[in-house]
Amino acid sequence: MKNIDPTTTGAWNKLQQYFEEMKDKEMKDLFQEDSERAEKFTIQWEDFYIDLSKNRITAEIKEALTQLAEECGIKEAINSYYRGDAINKTEGRPVLHTALRAPEHEEVLVDGKNVMPEVFKAKEKIKEFSDKVINGDHKGYTNLPITDVVNIGIGGSDLGPVMVTEALKFYKNHLNLHYISNVDGDHVYETLKHLNPETTLFVIVSKTFTTQETLSNANTAREWFKRSAPQEAVSKHFVAVSSNLTQVTEFGIDPGNIFPMWDWVGGRFSLWSAVGLSISLGIGYKGFEELLEGAHEMDQHFRNEDLASNIPVQLAMLSVWYNNFFKAESEAVIPYTQYLQKLPSYLQQAIMESNGKSIDRNGNPVTYQTGNIIWGEPGTNSQHAFFQLIHQGTKLIPADFIGFKESLFGDKSHHDKLMANYFAQTEALLMGKTEDEVRKELEAKKLSNEEIAQLLPFKVFAGNKPTTSLLINKLTPASLGKLIAMYEHKIFVQGVIWNIFSYDQWGVELGKQLASKILSEIEEIDVHEHDNSTSQLLKFYLS
Ligand code: F6P
Repeated sequence: MKNIDPTTTGAWNKLQQYFEEMKDKEMKDLFQEDSERAEKFTIQWEDFYIDLSKNRITAEIKEALTQLAEECGIKEAINSYYRGDAINKTEGRPVLHTALRAPEHEEVLVDGKNVMPEVFKAKEKIKEFSDKVINGDHKGYTNLPITDVVNIGIGGSDLGPVMVTEALKFYKNHLNLHYISNVDGDHVYETLKHLNPETTLFVIVSKTFTTQETLSNANTAREWFKRSAPQEAVSKHFVAVSSNLTQVTEFGIDPGNIFPMWDWVGGRFSLWSAVGLSISLGIGYKGFEELLEGAHEMDQHFRNEDLASNIPVQLAMLSVWYNNFFKAESEAVIPYTQYLQKLPSYLQQAIMESNGKSIDRNGNPVTYQTGNIIWGEPGTNSQHAFFQLIHQGTKLIPADFIGFKESLFGDKSHHDKLMANYFAQTEALLMGKTEDEVRKELEAKKLSNEEIAQLLPFKVFAGNKPTTSLLINKLTPASLGKLIAMYEHKIFVQGVIWNIFSYDQWGVELGKQLASKILSEIEEIDVHEHDNSTSQLLKFYLS
């Protein structure tokens, strides 16, 4: 990949000038000037309708943003990504979650070896195991079928599976799925207290199998299990997903119960591998496969589509526009379906662990802003929580609105209300409410001039707040796969533009190291020096 400082490109320079012109322009005027603005800024692809027109851009800005992507070498970068070059340079690894959803006949080489046969072997194993557990052929130690599955993992080994399972709950079978991630014992015991060891299956998911949280939680689960079950029953109730076979075997998991993971799949992009075993258990292998196929469709679109109509590229460049020119600090993701309630947390790891970097690919500190802060909650709940700040606060918060044409249970009356809110919010954020409009409204309510003058400033909405409307036919495994892959590729593009390494996560290491040092101190094994504040806190905790 080319290591280009984006601020040195011609497009950046152009965008700087466009920003000066655009910063005081009203989007509603742009709509006035061009009656076809919505059509011009909408990308329609398969079952996705993506309207970018409520963003603070013009055709020239869109072109300059696309030019910026080009100047930063996006096309070559996409080729390197799919080809399996070691683009995760600081860990010396390729980034190939795309291979997990590619067709079997495609050849994907890692160190000269085609990895597709092992990918498909793992898929076969996921399928066989899921089928057996779902249809009751896989029995527990007292010969009862499995009723509950507990996924134990954290970060990418939890967030993807839990988000997808929640999103596809409608398609779920009879198995009850539970997720334990936090090393908080209360989280573990609260989950275990409702379970019957005879009918519970534990899936321990850890790429490295060294993660403190997961190993502690897995140990606790095993102890709990062994309180009522004999040692030899463990193999029927514990399976693992990992790339560290030695550690898993040492933990006591039957080698036949290990599902593989590979170094070339990053944890936060791993739900497509056996890390997604709980998804396949919950919705059946067919649904899991449809999810992968959807993602593959998006992979194809991203790889082959022109930059100007390439969904992940355009979304990424818009985000760069707000982040680096408007200095927007955060972005909101607002799904108008309760099923996607965990999407924002999932995206927080995917986006912030990937692009929260301040050293460029040449090893120098960057001189510009990189990764954005991501947050959100489903609509309409979020409207009654934080929308006030988006509408009338001092910060610019571009927001993705994600909605569906059809609801899953098909209650049209509810769905129309839900979607009316989606459309109303994006319109309100665009148009705002002027002084004139507020005055007329208050006059109609027969308020005195004095009362009007007093209330008026508080009731004005500046508007001009950017939103991107994503409208998808229906929430299905396939459309969810497309949506997740869309965000994954958006992350990639932003990393290329910001000239950073998106696929390592050294920033989480320091805290981990210190936590184990402090734990040894709490357990009175060791004594360490701390800053004054930490020493006092520890003293209070231990007293
Ligand atoms: O939070 C850091 C991290 O390494 C994530 O990138 C990863 O998803 C998570 O920990 C869990 O790691 P593992 O699957 O190896 O237990």
